[in-house]
Amino acid sequence: MRHIAGYRRPYPGTQPNHLHPPYVSSIKRAPSKPLIYLPHTLSEVTGPRFGQKTIDVKAFDLTKQHSGEALGERIVVSGRVLDENGRPVSNTLVEIWQANAAGRYLHKVDQHDAPLDPNFTGCGHTLTDSEGYYRFVTIRPGEYPWRNHYNAWRPAHIHFSLFGPAFATRLITQMYFPGDPLIPFDPIFNCTADDKARNRLISLFDWETTIPEQALGYRFNIVLSGREATPMEK
Ligand SMILES: [Fe+2]
Repeated sequence: MRHIAGYRRPYPGTQPNHLHPPYVSSIKRAPSKPLIYLPHTLSEVTGPRFGQKTIDVKAFDLTKQHSGEALGERIVVSGRVLDENGRPVSNTLVEIWQANAAGRYLHKVDQHDAPLDPNFTGCGHTLTDSEGYYRFVTIRPGEYPWRNHYNAWRPAHIHFSLFGPAFATRLITQMYFPGDPLIPFDPIFNCTADDKARNRLISLFDWETTIPEQALGYRFNIVLSGREATPMEK
């Protein structure tokens, strides 16, 4: 019979707190009663599995999803997906969504007074390769205001979803950009108490993946579980 892996739970403080009052929405969303411990079941530790047939191979390049060029600064975002033992997670689905260069999402709830870009949808997906590497070409997202508090602005960020090898390792998180002056003031970034853990959400500028005269490279490695896990949204 095939060995079925279990997954260790994270260390205290290294994942976002459910309740972080400076992030005002967390006051209503946070559970008010103690959580019920549920043991993992077979369906949570064995799937789902995705293959080449389930993805659009062109979806990794968000700058080329329409007939015209997307507006803004082209960037390459790439990295490696690893499990809690540092082993690459191959063939896992990585999805991203983001605002356009002006800081506006193509979504009916987003009524920010900034222009939409007809050549930029802001969604992409890809599979990791056999060594756990993924790569996207996209536009650097703009910062945008939100109504969490007076004069609140989100740092530039890209939303990520990763399934990993099983539902138990599914991770939804946000990647930030190095040197963004808004990061220290961001209540969502600050939901994770552990300083070292939350700084894992900031990508690194990367000469190796920078394309001359075309796009700056940013590297964002993601660890799905364990001691070095990337903080994820609950
Ligand atoms: Fe966002």
